[in-house]
Amino acid sequence: MYHTPVLLNPSIDALDIRPGGTYVDVTFGGGGHSREILRRFADDPTAHLYAFDQDPDAEQEAQKINDPRFTFIRSNFRWLSNFMRYHDVPQIDGLLADLGVSSHHFDEASRGFTFRDPEAPLDMRMNPRDGLTAADILRDYAEERLATLFHLYGELRDSRRLATAIVRARVERPLLTAADLLEVVQPILAHDKAKNPQARLFQALRIEVNHEMDALRDLLLAATDLIVPDGRLVVLTYHSLEDRLVKNLVRTGNVEGTLQQDPIYGTLSSPWRAVGQPIVPSEAEQQSNPRSRSAHLRIAHKQKN
Ligand SMILES: C[S@@+](CC[C@H](N)C(=O)[O-])C[C@H]1O[C@@H](n2cnc3c(N)ncnc32)[C@H](O)[C@@H]1O
Repeated sequence: MYHTPVLLNPSIDALDIRPGGTYVDVTFGGGGHSREILRRFADDPTAHLYAFDQDPDAEQEAQKINDPRFTFIRSNFRWLSNFMRYHDVPQIDGLLADLGVSSHHFDEASRGFTFRDPEAPLDMRMNPRDGLTAADILRDYAEERLATLFHLYGELRDSRRLATAIVRARVERPLLTAADLLEVVQPILAHDKAKNPQARLFQALRIEVNHEMDALRDLLLAATDLIVPDGRLVVLTYHSLEDRLVKNLVRTGNVEGTLQQDPIYGTLSSPWRAVGQPIVPSEAEQQSNPRSRSAHLRIAHKQKN
């Protein structure tokens, strides 16, 4: 199994699929959500689904889908507007983003996302053709920058001590595998009161390696331009930072969450309205799919002008 989709039915219901609509799944993964969207198109030949993923393994999964209403785009979703322009799609009716990595990424130790395999290389790139690996970051970043990313993206208490220990250790030998890193950080993480400190440390590195926050900011702004009035934005978030960006966008129309003032009209309203409260997986789903535990499904409806 490549990946078990999280909150499958509620997230596809939230897209409010209409006849002849154009939808985008920006995080294809194993295609669980995309396949359900195509199923709900039923026999509508005029509907279309575009799916993005920057990962070559996801691309292979996408090649298994043989449907003229489906187009796969191997790219970072931050280039959404460019690709929609390229495909001559001026507007879309709904967009789904199921953020982060898939279980496939953790199952495939060679990709370097897991700390469970000591020999796993510290890679963590979703797109292995591009950018710095986690090992590169541990080798090159200044101490202060490492501390900041552990603090911001991992919410680790001892971020400074972690950074200091890494900078000291890397003078002796390079940190290339999960075991190399854990040996250095374990004595510090053992005292961190946070839940799953190892997982948080690896999450922090993964977010940095893949520029996840920047990509999400770009995506949310592009989606705000592309989605038609009355259309839907559906986002599954897995940690508080990404959840905050989506919440800010819906409340204020920008990812910073600042209310915009106009000298004549006063406070400008957001083009978005939240549809209900964020949905979390049921106890049963959390039991059967532990990855779903941190999920929040946010649904927004674009206002008619
Ligand atoms: C949680 S999984 C999606 C699982 C999918 N919904 C399913 O049901 O199988 C997230 C996927 O999005 C991809 N991804 C994450 N960030 C991305 C980005 N900025 N651009 C393109 N793909 C991205 C990852 O490679 C991963 O395959």
